[in-house]
Amino acid sequence: MRIQVLASITLLVSIFVAMPSLYGSPADVESRIDALLARMTLQEKLGQLSQSTAGYTRSDAQIRNDVRAGRWGSIMNLRDAQQRAALQRVALHESRLGIPLIFGRDVIHGYRTVFPIPLGQSASWDPELVRKAAHIAARETAAEGIHWTFAPMLDIARDPRWGRIAESLGEDPVLASALGAAMVRGLQGDSLDAPDAVAACAKHYAGYGAAEGGRDYNTTWIPETLLRDVYLPSFAAAEKAGAATFMSAFNDLNGVPASGNVFLLRQVLRKEWGFDGFVVSDWNAVEEMIKHGYAADSTDAAVKSLRAGVDMEMVSTDYYDDLPALIAAGKFDVKLVDESVRNILRVKFRLGLFERPIPAPPPASAMLAPDALAIAQRLATESAVLLRNEGSLLPLSKSIAKVAVIGPLADSRVDQMGCWVADGQPGDVRTPLAAIREMLGPDRVAYAPALKNSRDNSQAGFAPALEAARNADAVLLFIGEEQSLSGEARSRASLDLPGAQDQLVDEIAKAGKPVVLIVLAGRPLTFSKAAAHAEAVLYAWHPGTMGGPAIANLLFGDAVPSGKLTVSFPRTAGQIPIYYNHMNTGRPPRGGSGRISERVAPEGDTSRYIDLDNGPEYPFGYGLSYTTFQYSNLKLSSASMAKGGALTVSADVTNSGKLEGGEIVQLYTRQLAASLTRPVRELKDFQRVTLKPGETKTVQFTLSTASLAFHNERGELVNEPGMFQVWIAPDSARGLRGEFKAID
Ligand code: NOJ
Repeated sequence: MRIQVLASITLLVSIFVAMPSLYGSPADVESRIDALLARMTLQEKLGQLSQSTAGYTRSDAQIRNDVRAGRWGSIMNLRDAQQRAALQRVALHESRLGIPLIFGRDVIHGYRTVFPIPLGQSASWDPELVRKAAHIAARETAAEGIHWTFAPMLDIARDPRWGRIAESLGEDPVLASALGAAMVRGLQGDSLDAPDAVAACAKHYAGYGAAEGGRDYNTTWIPETLLRDVYLPSFAAAEKAGAATFMSAFNDLNGVPASGNVFLLRQVLRKEWGFDGFVVSDWNAVEEMIKHGYAADSTDAAVKSLRAGVDMEMVSTDYYDDLPALIAAGKFDVKLVDESVRNILRVKFRLGLFERPIPAPPPASAMLAPDALAIAQRLATESAVLLRNEGSLLPLSKSIAKVAVIGPLADSRVDQMGCWVADGQPGDVRTPLAAIREMLGPDRVAYAPALKNSRDNSQAGFAPALEAARNADAVLLFIGEEQSLSGEARSRASLDLPGAQDQLVDEIAKAGKPVVLIVLAGRPLTFSKAAAHAEAVLYAWHPGTMGGPAIANLLFGDAVPSGKLTVSFPRTAGQIPIYYNHMNTGRPPRGGSGRISERVAPEGDTSRYIDLDNGPEYPFGYGLSYTTFQYSNLKLSSASMAKGGALTVSADVTNSGKLEGGEIVQLYTRQLAASLTRPVRELKDFQRVTLKPGETKTVQFTLSTASLAFHNERGELVNEPGMFQVWIAPDSARGLRGEFKAID
């Protein structure tokens, strides 16, 4: 009886405390936080600062008890919607203060509907489409009762050996900023508390992409000027777009781990940018400061991270375990704890978690809805980059008598999804083989995988593949890198095609049939030997659920490629780092054959290899279409630009081919002399135009003084007067060039 009464009282109290009125009106977030903070014990506060992967490590009963006691502010990676709902009920109705949990999950490029990997998405250069995809990901995620995703990843990636280049938006800060901000807007929608919005997390703050040697988690050394000009703008853009949370990275930056970095977190993020959401550490990154050699023990790690401004600790439990004793001894100011709790509660209130109804398990129709699949297909189509098309082999005619579809990646559902697909299901994927069969009918398609997967070294399957090629009018060869070779902790020293894929291409070439290589990969690969056997090369990345139909449409002309590379493709891994916006040196190369001749340095003493050209295999910004575009008539509104002023730069772009097509027109500048050396080119803007055959459009850009600013030696953002070159260009290696003078 007594127990029953107690239970009813607890229920009443819990319902009561979960009512918004207790903590004020939804509009008045700060006083609601005050009301809560005033009632919280130190343990409850530290609980809010803790994120658990409880689903992996603890039993259901243990997690419930924890949540009831206010032990966790957040739980990540719980797989089951019902379990999430049950735990949220415990948090809201059975914990002393009724503070809701925030559930986090890695939804990196789609929840059930898988979009192309972010590097692929970036090749669309289409922020609006990328926003729509992120919004669909948010809709599917939120329907499952998940409030927060660890995306977008905004690390500038200049090293394709780094497996996480797959998750990046490429090597350029302007493009990554535009696309990253679009992802934030897509995930968070118009209002964070909308039922189809989730909180975004700008990660990995910061510098993570500059890992030495391309080895994941490795040390980074980035001078402040480079950090501010190249590595931070995408994060600043995400902050400006309203990103509710940030994730501190694993790496040490100039000797200070990002998860204990006062400069990054307090100076730049909070003070300069005014961020008022919360920062979560990456997985165990607080504790890993011990291995970095930056913290002596877990207590030291907790102190350094929290002081630096990491509000929530992911996985490790140093805050919760070690801070109470320090605080009791008067060695740590509880105000810092309060500040972090405040940041976390602010996001929880903004998400409406105190009022948000716990969703019922979503109907099947909430996933893979027709609009989701249509966007996924469009994005896969726009991401694919046509790298070569000799003799206009592509598009193939749909009345072709027979095609041979060959290769380990033609029908691999899981590999098509790419890295980071916690909730994507292979069964949902439509592969290229399936789509081509559907398009042409099964009788006109011969299929031979030849290799079990991209790493397979056995040539046992080559004979039937060669036979299929001999009997076909064209060969569609699907090669590249399977899903598990890119992503976190998947660094590679060689970028060559793994397994016996080069040998496979050599073998298939013996059939003497036209060959199209379709490369599925999570990074730029070095595949020039294979490409030499092919008339056409389509780089399709890991294109997601609808990659198959997108590729089939591109191959057979129902769609026209328009994607352009967002990273430089090296000729060999030995050229890395290779990126388009490099400095010039005092002895730039003069060009030349790149072959070692009798004179060892035939080009003189210049900054180049004696055995290879400096330039990439394919430059940043490059991509072909089935039609051709001519650039002409570059015009500048003035020969000079006054400080604070602007300049318009325009050029005519003409579709000189026979098909309608989209072209991504790029604007670059170079400052010829300044107080610090400046890159040989920097992207400033871009526009997509769609042109009918014969049509010309004048593409106009406004170049502002602000866009020409850079950080000087003292870390100040400055505009310096001087001569500038400007290009309107189809890629970073070509274009129409003009010049103007910036005057003070
Ligand atoms: C580690 C990864 O670096 C990060 O990107 C991810 O969000 C977290 N693990 C959580 O899974």
